[in-house]
Amino acid sequence: MNYQQSKKAQFLLQSEIRNMSIECDDVNGINLAQGICDLPLEKVLSDKAREAMEAGENHYTRYDGIDILREEIAKKARDFNRINAAPHNIVVSGGATGALYSACFALFNPGDEIILFEPYYGYHEYTLMSLDLVPVYAALTPPDWKFNIDELQNLVTKKTKAILICTPSNPTGKIFSAEELDMLGDFCVKNNLIALTDEIYEYITFDGLQHISPASREKFNGRVVTVSGYSKTFSITGWRLGYCIADDEIVKWIGNASDLIYVCAPAPLQYGVACAIRDIPQSFYTSLKEQYQRKRDILCSTLSGLGLTPYIPKGAYYILADISSVPGKNGKDRAMYILAKTGVGVVPGEAFLRSGGGGIARFCFAKDYSVIEQACERLLKLK
Ligand SMILES: Cc1ncc(COP(=O)(O)O)c(C=O)c1O
Repeated sequence: MNYQQSKKAQFLLQSEIRNMSIECDDVNGINLAQGICDLPLEKVLSDKAREAMEAGENHYTRYDGIDILREEIAKKARDFNRINAAPHNIVVSGGATGALYSACFALFNPGDEIILFEPYYGYHEYTLMSLDLVPVYAALTPPDWKFNIDELQNLVTKKTKAILICTPSNPTGKIFSAEELDMLGDFCVKNNLIALTDEIYEYITFDGLQHISPASREKFNGRVVTVSGYSKTFSITGWRLGYCIADDEIVKWIGNASDLIYVCAPAPLQYGVACAIRDIPQSFYTSLKEQYQRKRDILCSTLSGLGLTPYIPKGAYYILADISSVPGKNGKDRAMYILAKTGVGVVPGEAFLRSGGGGIARFCFAKDYSVIEQACERLLKLK
C-alpha cells in the first residue's frame, strides 16, 4: 500500500517534550521533561470511581457531563474562581485539552487569528493549527514575563477573533495579575475578541499569590471561555477529565463539538471527580501548594548554585532556567548534554518559542521529593 499522511497531520511532529522523555527513558534517566504528576491518588477518587463502576455506571453519559459533576464544578467556579456559573454553563470534556479543542472547533473558522503569548505551551499552538486557525504571537518578556498592550493592539487585524490566556502559565509559571487581566479585558472588549483561558494549574500558586480567573473580572464583560480540569489538581492526568465554562449560548455549541469528538468523558471517573470536589477538604489544596512550592525551591536553589539561573515560577510546576553556559550550539544540544552528563531529562527552550529558545530549558518538578533530590544531586555533575 502506498499510504500518505494527510496534509493536516503532517505538521504534527512528535513534540520535543515526548522526544526528550523517550531519550531519557533510553538512558534510564530521571525525567524532568514531562509533567507527569506522580503524587498519590486521593482515596475518595478511586473509591467513588470503583463504586460507580460496580453500580453499573459504565455507559455513555450526557454529552456535557453527569449532573452531579456539573453541579460541583459550577459550585467550585462560584466559590473558588468567582465566576457566576450554573451547571448548564459547564461542558465536561476529554481533559482541558479536549475542552479547548472543542471550544476552538465550535467558535472559529479557518483563517481566524488567535493571539498566543510566547513562550507558549505546544499543545495550544498545535490545537489552533490543526483547526486551520492562525496563531499570532505576542511576547512575554523575561524576567517577569510582562506583555506590552500596544504591541498586542498592533497584532490585531480584521481576522483576529480571540486571545489565549494561560494562567498560571506553562512554561513560564506566570500568574496574570488583576491589573494585567483588566487591561486584557479592555483589549478584548475594544477589539471584539473572545478570551480563551487555560487554568489547569489554578490550584498550584506560590508565595501567597492567588489565581485570578479572567472570567471573574468585570472588564471582560462576559467574553470569556474558561478552560480547566482536574488532571493536575488531583494528579489524574490519565483520567482525561476537564471542562469549560461559557455563557448560555456558546456553551451549547461547545457541547455539540465535544459530543462529536469525545462523546463523553469516562462515566465512572466523572463520579469519582464529582465526589472528590465535594468531599476533599480545603487542607488538601493548601498542602498541594506547599508541597509544590517546597519542590520548586529545592530545584531552583540547585539550578542557581550551578549558574543555571532560574526564572522563579509563580505557579504551575515548571522552571525555565538559563542553560546558555552548557556546551552546545542550540537548546537541543544542551539538553542532550545535560542528559548525557547527569541522566536528567529536560525540555529545550525551542519547544516553547519560535526562535531564541536555545539558551533556556524547562525543568518539571511534579515529582516525588526523593526524585527531585536525586535529580538535584545528579545535576551537580554539571559543575
Ligand atoms: C497549560 C496546560 N494545559 C493543559 C494541559 C493538559 O490538561 P489535560 O490533561 O486536562 O488535558 C497541560 C498539561 O501539561 C498544560 O500544561
